[in-house]
Amino acid sequence: MSDQGPAGAHSGPGMSERKAQHLSICLDGETYHVETSRTRLDEVHLVHQALPELNADDVDDSGEFLGQSIDMPVFISSMTGGSAGAYQVNKDLATVAGELGIPVGMGSIRILLRKPDVIDHFRLKRYAPNVPVFANIGGVQLPEVPHTELYRLLEELAVDAVAVHLNPGQELVQPEGDRNFAGIREAVATFTAASPVPVIVKETGFGVHPGEIARLQAAGVAAVDIAGAGGTNWNRVEAYRQDDDTVAAAAAEFDDWGISTALILAALGREQRGVFASGGIRSGTDVLKALALGADTVGMALPFVRHVSEGGVGAAVAFGRQVKYVIRTGMALMGCNRISDLRHAPLWLEEPLRRDAQALWRACR
Ligand SMILES: Cc1cc2nc3c(=O)[nH]c(=O)nc-3n(C[C@H](O)[C@H](O)[C@H](O)COP(=O)(O)O)c2cc1C
Repeated sequence: MSDQGPAGAHSGPGMSERKAQHLSICLDGETYHVETSRTRLDEVHLVHQALPELNADDVDDSGEFLGQSIDMPVFISSMTGGSAGAYQVNKDLATVAGELGIPVGMGSIRILLRKPDVIDHFRLKRYAPNVPVFANIGGVQLPEVPHTELYRLLEELAVDAVAVHLNPGQELVQPEGDRNFAGIREAVATFTAASPVPVIVKETGFGVHPGEIARLQAAGVAAVDIAGAGGTNWNRVEAYRQDDDTVAAAAAEFDDWGISTALILAALGREQRGVFASGGIRSGTDVLKALALGADTVGMALPFVRHVSEGGVGAAVAFGRQVKYVIRTGMALMGCNRISDLRHAPLWLEEPLRRDAQALWRACR
C-alpha cells in the first residue's frame, strides 16, 4: 500500500484524534480506497410490471423503524463523534435526517466514559426531534463497562435506541485496537435485557451470518443490522493508519473479507423480520433490492457523510430525495402500493447468488 494515512496518523493517538483520522480517510475518496468488496446486489433482479395496476400517486413509501413511522425505509448509519470536525458532521447528518424524516445514528459514545465534556457532540436529538435518533457503543466494551453507566448516558442523550457495533475486523488491524472478543455475546444479552431503549446489533461492514442473527434475536435484540461486505471496509481504513508495513500489507489480503450484503439477505429469505440491511447501499435501486429481499429498513453511512462534507446539508438532502424518488418510482413499476408489498413482488437471483445463499444458510444456521 503506497498511501500513508493522514498527517499525524501514527499509532497511539487519542480517541478524538483517531475519530478525526477515520473521518478524513473516509472522506478523501481520491487518495484512499475504502470500498473494496462487492454487495452482490448486482446479482439481484427486480421485475418490471408493464401493467402495474395502481395509481402511482397512491404509492405509500413510508417505513417503520422499531415501531416508529418514518418517511421512507432508509436510515443514516452510525457514524462519528468526539472531535470538533465530527461534531459538525453529526449536527449536519442529524439535520439531514430531520429534513428527510428518517432515523439517524451517531458514533460510539464510548468516549463519554473518559471525556464526559464532549457530551454535547452526541446531543443530536435537538437537531432532529421528529425522527428516531440512536446512540452507539462497541460490543467489545460491553463486558468491561458498567451497563448502568451506559443506560444513564442513553437517558441523558434522550435517544430512541442504541446500536451495539461488532467490529473484530477493524479492531485487529487498528494499531490501538482491542483483541479480546470473548464474552461479548453474553454481555450483549445482559445489556439488552435491562436497556431502557431498544437495542440494535450491527456489524460495520463484514456482515453477520444467519446463525448469529438467530442467536442475537433469541437474546432479545430489537433488530440486527447486517452491515455486510461491499461498502466501507474498516479493515482497509485502519490499514491506511498503520505504520507497521507487515500489518498494512497483510490487511490487504482481507479486501474481499466478509459476507456480502445481498448474500446474507438471500440466505435469510424474504419472510425474515427484524433485519436491517446496510453495507455498500449506494442508491435508491440498492434500497429497493434490499427491501425486496426482506430487509425491514436500509442504512447508508459513507454516501451521506460524503455528501454532507462535499456539499453540506443541502447536497445530502438532495441525495436523500433522489433515493426517495427512486423508491417511489420503482415501487410503482413493480406494482407495489406499500413497502411491505416489495417482499412479495417478483424477483430473481442469478444462479451463483442463489446457490451461495443456500450454501451459507446450510453452513451457518
Ligand atoms: C466516517 C465513519 C465513521 C463510522 N463510525 C462508526 C461508529 O462509530 N460506530 C459504528 O457502529 N459504525 C461506524 N461506522 C460504520 C457504519 O455505520 C457502517 O456500518 C459501515 O460504514 C458500512 O456502511 P457503508 O458501506 O454504507 O459505509 C462508521 C462509518 C463511517 C463512514
